[in-house]
Amino acid sequence: MSDLLEILLKRRSIRKYTGEAIPAEKLEEIINAGLLAESGRRICPWELIVVKDKDMLKKLSECREGAAKMLAGADAAIVVIADEEKTDVWIEDSSIVMANMHLMADHLGVGSCWIQGRLRNTPDGELTEEYLRDLLGYPKNLRLEAILSLGMYDVHPEPHSLSELKIEKIHYEKY
Ligand SMILES: Cc1cc2nc3c(=O)[nH]c(=O)nc-3n(C[C@H](O)[C@H](O)[C@H](O)COP(=O)(O)O)c2cc1C
Repeated sequence: MSDLLEILLKRRSIRKYTGEAIPAEKLEEIINAGLLAESGRRICPWELIVVKDKDMLKKLSECREGAAKMLAGADAAIVVIADEEKTDVWIEDSSIVMANMHLMADHLGVGSCWIQGRLRNTPDGELTEEYLRDLLGYPKNLRLEAILSLGMYDVHPEPHSLSELKIEKIHYEKY
């Protein structure tokens, strides 16, 4: 099996963190993995907001009903926003940034989880995008994609296995 497939099999979402600090060089590598994402016409419409402040992480954890609560115990969050005026594929571009960072985090032994931001609401019914805009100060043309929660972990879930792949979803030549 290729090294990359093994890395992909091992990747899991991790929501429980020890509170230990993520080594700075690991956080830098995670961010670099995001910045290395392919991008339509190489426009790279995204911006990353790295949050380490504990009070702010607590506030960010309230951006969704339940789905973001791990941020209260995270060591860092990376909020991915993008300029929708620069390209109509800002969602695709931003998703690849998220996926690259999530995969790199797992590879480096750092737990992480994608938190959906776009099209979601706070428990009070406010758009998550606007709630975070007020907290983080990004301008109107920058749209929220998602948040990556990050922290060190004690327990890594079992890797995926090739036997669970949904091979029935593959269609050859025609549907
Ligand atoms: C687009 C997308 C949105 C997601 N949103 C959330 C979320 O808001 N909160 C959360 O805890 N997990 C979220 N996840 C993580 C998924 O729940 C997780 O990837 C899935 O359960 C499979 O588990 P695994 O990542 O460990 O393989 C999201 C994942 C993706 C790709």
